[in-house]
Formats: sequence, C-alpha cells, structure tokens
Amino acid sequence: MDAVNGMVTAAYIAASALFIRSLGGLANPETAREGNFQGMVGMGLAVGATALLLPREALPVLGVVVVAGLAIGSTLAQRVAMTSMPQLVAILHSFVGLAAALVGYASQLGGEVPAGAEGVIHAVALYVGVFVGAVTFTGSVVAWGKLEGKIGSKPLMLPGRHALNAALVLVVLGMLVPYAMNPAAGLAYLVAMTVIGCFIGWHMVMAIGGADMPVVVSMLNSYSGWAAAADGFLLQNDLLIVTGALVGSSGAILSYIMCKAMARSFWSVILGGFGTEEGAAPAAATGPVGDPIATDIETLVNELKEAQSVVIVPGYGMAVAQAQHPVCTLTKKLRARGCEVRFAIHPVAGRLPGHMNVLLAEANLPYDLVLEMDEINDDFPETDVVLVIGANDIVNPGAIDDPSSPIYGMPVLHAWEAARVVVFKRGKGAGYAGVENPLFLRDCTRMLYGDAKKSVDALLAGLGE
Ligand code: TAP
Repeated sequence: MDAVNGMVTAAYIAASALFIRSLGGLANPETAREGNFQGMVGMGLAVGATALLLPREALPVLGVVVVAGLAIGSTLAQRVAMTSMPQLVAILHSFVGLAAALVGYASQLGGEVPAGAEGVIHAVALYVGVFVGAVTFTGSVVAWGKLEGKIGSKPLMLPGRHALNAALVLVVLGMLVPYAMNPAAGLAYLVAMTVIGCFIGWHMVMAIGGADMPVVVSMLNSYSGWAAAADGFLLQNDLLIVTGALVGSSGAILSYIMCKAMARSFWSVILGGFGTEEGAAPAAATGPVGDPIATDIETLVNELKEAQSVVIVPGYGMAVAQAQHPVCTLTKKLRARGCEVRFAIHPVAGRLPGHMNVLLAEANLPYDLVLEMDEINDDFPETDVVLVIGANDIVNPGAIDDPSSPIYGMPVLHAWEAARVVVFKRGKGAGYAGVENPLFLRDCTRMLYGDAKKSVDALLAGLGE
C-alpha cells in the first residue's frame, strides 16, 4: 500500500505541475493548444492516480461516470457556437458547485468524522464546501439562464436586498457553531444552510444585469474553485486543494482584469444592480450630432491600395458574422502588396476573454500581427487606415472625453487618431453598452454598412488577385 501511496503522491505532484503549466500556456495564443493538452494530461493523471486509491468494486462506477462525462463534455464542446461559450462555461460551473455540495453530503451521511480538533476542521471544511457549492450552483444556473435568454437580463431589485443577504450570511455563520460542535447530529443545520446558500446564489445573480454576466461567470468560476478546495480538505486530497486554489485564484484575477478593462468596480458588480443597459435604448448622445457618412467598397479598395499601414480592430460583430477567415485573407493580400497590417485587440473585445485571439488563431493568422491595446494604442496617429470590423464600445471616444457617458473611464482603442477609420457594421445600432458612439460622426470616419463577412468578401473581390 505504501508503494501505491508513493505513486499516487508522485502522480499528484506531476498533475499539479501540469495544471500550473497549463494555466501559463493558456495565457498566450501561441502556447494555448499546448496548455490545453497539458491540462488534459494532468487531469488524466489525476483521475488515474485517484482510481488506484479506490476499492476494486468502485472502479466500474468510476469507469461509467468518467466515460459519460467525457462523452457529454466533448459533444457539448464540439457543438457550442463561439458566441454561446459564456453560457457553456456558466452551466459547467453549476456542475462543479453541485458536485462540491454533494461531496459534502456524501461525507456527512457516510464518512467517518475524526475526533477532537481535526473533527472541527473537517466539519468546517464540509460546511464551507457545501455552502460555496450551493451558492455557485444556483448562481451559475441563473447566469446561464440570463446569458441564454431564458431569464430576463433585468436585475431583480428586492427591497433591502443587501441587508437580506447580510442577514442570511449571519444566519449561516451562526449555524456553523452548533454544527461544528456535533457534526454527526447536524444534518438539519446542513440542510437549512444549503437552502439558504441556494437562495443567496439565486438572489445575488438575479440582482446583476445581463451586461455584467461575463464578469459574474468568471467570479462563479472562482467560487467553484474554492468550493473544490474546501472538499480537498474534507477528503484530505492535496491535489484537489491545489487545483481548487488554482481555479479559485485565477477566476478572481480574471474577474478583476475584466472589471478594470470595463471600468467597473469589482464590488459594484458583485453587489449587483449594474449592467442593466443591454437591450436598452441607446443613451442620448452628448457629442456631435448628425448622420454618419457612408462609404462603399470601391472607395475603400482605393484607400487600401494607397495605404502603407493598416490596423484592424475586430469586435463582437466579427464573431457574429464569422468574418475571421476572409479578414485573414485580406491581411495576407494587403501584406503581399507591401502594406503593414496589424490587429489591435481590446481586453474585452467580444463577449469573453481572449474571444478575438481565439477566432484569429482559428483562421491561422500569424500571432506576431496581433497586438494588445497597450502595445498599439500610440501607433494610431501614424496609421493610414483603421478597419473597425464589428467593434463598437471598444473604440468609443466618449469613454475618454465624455464624463456623462456610461462607459466613461473604460480604456479604449484610439482609432480616431488615424487618417481614415472605416467602421463595418450592419446599421446604426449601439454596441453592447447601449451607448451612442461619437466615433461614427468624426471627420475621419466612414461607415461601411452590411454584414462584416459579406463586406470583407466584397473587398477581397475588389482588390483582385
Ligand atoms: P459591441 O460593443 O458589442 O459592438 C458590436 C458591434 O458589432 C455592434 O455595434 C453591431 O452593430 C456590430 N455587428 C453585429 N453583428 C454584425 C455583423 N454580422 N456584421 C457586422 N457588424 C455586426 O462589441 P465590442 O466593440 O467587441 O465590445 C465588447 C463589449 O462587450 C464591451 O462593451 C464590453 O464591455 C462587453 N463585454 C465584454 C466582455 C469580454 S470578457 N469580452 C465581457 C462582458 C462584456 P450592428 O448591429 O449595427 O451591426
């Protein structure tokens, strides 16, 4: 048995190292595939090593659930549209939360409770794991429902909701004391706490508007990690503690980065009531008024033939139109003519972190052409033509010079500093934040109306061989 334990410990250490390397790899499009692969190998190793510790009669059950999980996961991942990825992630987090809560119940109903101080630690870990799991479960289901359009994205504003949440958390903390004193007789406390946890998760996410849902999903990702870490203490499984802590902290860091890139306070998102603008009528423009000037393919083809440097700003509309492949062909064509072409990626372009990077990588765009906002923002004054393809909020100058704008303070790409800006979009509608974009009325700007893919295809035809 000692030899088996030694092998399991070695496998757990290797799996932890692979998970850490995987997270590092996923941070960059160039290494993301490798990172994904390392994560898969780490998980395979973790499941295999854990199987070594199980009694023989449990192995068929493990086999069935692993095969079922693999089949469901790979089918879902293959079928999901890129634009529905946040929903998928949200519903997967709900599974993690549910699993964490069920592990706690399994331990309560069937596990042996250690005596003394160790028993108290065990009880606290179980209680915390079930609570965070319950909050994550219902919160993630609501986030999925809001993103999928099954639940209205309008925030639910119950009167005194902050006080209600705080009071419920106090009740949960209050019940922990009698539970930890005698966990064996504490099932009623556990059930009551689970019901309250489910309510808090539901209520907390119901109070957050649809526009902030991706941040909430990343925050729930963090919660699911902490719930798993608590279960790691419960099961005395070091790998689960490490993995849970990695998920918990990376989710929290991602939420923070997203809040910063959207000029939101982390607490205003968590406490809810913000992000109600989606689907709302565009906010009144306080900048220049008038009609944007439209352009056509022929004019743009001529401008591109003259251009020495072009910057492409992709946004959510490029994902909707699935225009990434023709956009990459356009890039090759312009580069073949001696024009410098680069991509400017805003941290929250699209609907999930790295959305644009994934699309461009899928179309085999060379990574060195893809620059982050801070790397390229100073280069717009020297740029001849900026092609804004299905982007809107991320190039809104109101975020910089209009204090009344709801997105004031959000860092944006300074596209308007270029000699010519051409905006590819279907109509005059606002972007995700529901805010008018004064860029469209700037002297340098021309609008190329229509579906982005059709417009880029027409450009390619215009540029010829
Ligand atoms: P948006 O502001 O959402 O603008 C997308 C534009 O694409 C729209 O104005 C739309 O105009 C156009 N469009 C849609 N379908 C199109 C098509 N088939 N062809 C051409 N154009 C099309 O996108 P963005 O600039 O990428 O900004 C992202 C927004 O999402 C930000 O407000 C950000 O805060 C928010 N957000 C992002 C994230 C992450 S992590 N990425 C998370 C939460 C929120 P028409 O309808 O006129 O075509």
